Amino acid sequence: MSQKDEYNRLVEDAKKHDALYYIETKPVITDYEYDHLIKSIEGIEREHPEWIKSDSPTQKVSSDIQSGFKQVEHSRPMLSLMNTYSEEELSDFVKRMEKILGQSDFAFTTELKIDGIAAAIRYEKGKFVQAVTRGDGKKGDDVTENVRTIQCLPHQLKGNNIPDVLELRGEVFLPLTVFHQLNAEKEEAGEDVYANPRNAAAGSLKLLDPRETKERKLAIIIYDVVDGELERQSEVAGYLKSLGLPVFSKEQSCLCKNVSEILEFAKGIEEKRRTFAFEIDGIVIKFDDIDKREEIGYTGKSPRWAVAYKFAPEQAITKIEEITVQVGRTGVLTPVAELTPVKLAGSTISRATLHNQDEIDRKDIRIGDTVIIEKGGDVIPKVVSVDLNKRPSNSHKWHMPKNCPSCGSHVVHIEGEVAVRCMNPSCGAKNLKRIVFFAAKDAMDIDHLGVKVIEKLVKNGYVKRISDIYRLTEAELSQVEGFKEKSVNNILASIERSKETTLARFIFALGIKHIGEIAAEEIAETVAAVDKFLQLTEEKLLEIDGIGKIVSQSLVEFLGDPANITEIQELIKLGVHPKGRVKIDHPFSGKTFVLTGTLTKYGRSEAGELIKQRGGKVSSSVGPGTDYLIAGEEAGSKLAKAKKLGIGILDEAEFIRLCQ
Ligand code: IVH
Repeated sequence: MSQKDEYNRLVEDAKKHDALYYIETKPVITDYEYDHLIKSIEGIEREHPEWIKSDSPTQKVSSDIQSGFKQVEHSRPMLSLMNTYSEEELSDFVKRMEKILGQSDFAFTTELKIDGIAAAIRYEKGKFVQAVTRGDGKKGDDVTENVRTIQCLPHQLKGNNIPDVLELRGEVFLPLTVFHQLNAEKEEAGEDVYANPRNAAAGSLKLLDPRETKERKLAIIIYDVVDGELERQSEVAGYLKSLGLPVFSKEQSCLCKNVSEILEFAKGIEEKRRTFAFEIDGIVIKFDDIDKREEIGYTGKSPRWAVAYKFAPEQAITKIEEITVQVGRTGVLTPVAELTPVKLAGSTISRATLHNQDEIDRKDIRIGDTVIIEKGGDVIPKVVSVDLNKRPSNSHKWHMPKNCPSCGSHVVHIEGEVAVRCMNPSCGAKNLKRIVFFAAKDAMDIDHLGVKVIEKLVKNGYVKRISDIYRLTEAELSQVEGFKEKSVNNILASIERSKETTLARFIFALGIKHIGEIAAEEIAETVAAVDKFLQLTEEKLLEIDGIGKIVSQSLVEFLGDPANITEIQELIKLGVHPKGRVKIDHPFSGKTFVLTGTLTKYGRSEAGELIKQRGGKVSSSVGPGTDYLIAGEEAGSKLAKAKKLGIGILDEAEFIRLCQ
């Protein structure tokens, strides 16, 4: 192949991967491999600028525009960033800056590079009015209603210094805990899992029903102001925070004067990489002096004054010794690669999920294969690719068993699902998983009742279904091999303790398909009591903010099975007492208040009570976490501090009006 043909092929390849990444949100190569592909294209383009195709991914921002959304023009183009992977590339970037400006006395704001979706956010007179995706850089998809469901993004800015128009740029992402839960639910529901948190965030942001987006619990961090008054990037976070916007914390950002300071920050962040609540893939380095940026300029698709310094992926090479099959709570069969143990990102890995048959076929994964595994945002590592050169000559394709490995019944491939399921309602493995799920920490939180203990109790025939947990007696437990008096008492005490629980936990613990902690909470807040929960209809469910069609159908199906109703009624009879809480829908809800000065109509504690009754919190000191200061007469230093921090201030009259 001539070099030109090679170039054309690489460009076509990159375009294909762009579409898989941005439109279908189902990439088939890693970000690292993609960046490598782009680097090869750039190399050829440097040698042969005359070959450069106008649609080469190096020339324009890859588009995420999708049907179903209105398109909106950006007030300023939304660009992408150049990537660097080495100290050398980073130092070239700084040197370029020196050359352009003819000086080296400058600074950079460095901050986390979140692996999420960029969004342009617009406030008018302090009100959130619009959110648009990057799109092709010039125009993007209008995702206002979906972004409105993001809880940490205020609908109303706070403070006294609100500009008429405030246009911001930030990153929408899925917190890792939510991502893990979403994928676990998807796996249980027999659906394709998301490859990483970024794809999950993209998929969630582009759902056509905002109620479903709300269920996903997206979050956002704002990192830039467009055409603002500020002169330095390093002032942006403090300013945005004073308006009540979510920004990087102090440890997630740093003002650096040179390459070695940038590298020091990068090193510290890379070490802490797994401690952040979201997935990051590097750091972003931005020229701090905003006025000088125009002078430094832009390339076709990225600014010359900023760059990303990306971390190498955490990968390891190992061998698949066996492929086993696990049966989940809802009967889904999941293939798991049993690996030769290998060190990866500080822990020893011996298993990787293979998700389903489609995934195995796509990557042609076989027993005996030497594979690259990678720790993405997921706790469980995944197989990235197979080294075909090392494949044993006698290997053959792997197929999902036709029968459930636990109960032996025929498995079923449900139309529209990627997974196969064991449909036997009394399958031992399914039942065991359901009981383990019920007792788990984030469900009924029954201490001392983990997988091992439940396995024994099920084997002995003492526990056949969930309600049997509450029928366990001291005599029965003492018969279980290895159970001493102390462990028997511990188990009985924690079973007893678990009876007092919240309705949200109880609903979640039932392990209903598609009902995660978030949906369970929304439902619990609406019904407030178990009997109302049992009477829920699809219409009622759809009225609940944040509940979509998938969740409501699944719940209606669950409640339609008399066996489930009987089991819930049994649990209640046995003393389980889930307490509901009525949702407080008041502007004070979730907000923190500080009271200062003398109020004429109420005493301090009376006013505090009014706030708490409306779902707010009362704190004694003014700080960045304060949402409102209620200032009575002769307010002193707290008022001054609140003004300085740009915190919203209410006088007594306003407070009384809002209370009503
Ligand atoms: S600044 C031209 N800051 O990275 C300025 N971007 O590869 C670009 N990103 O599209 C945006 N964290 O989606 C900036 N702290 C951060 C970021 C960040 C993540 C994403 C953003 C952007 C992409 C560029």
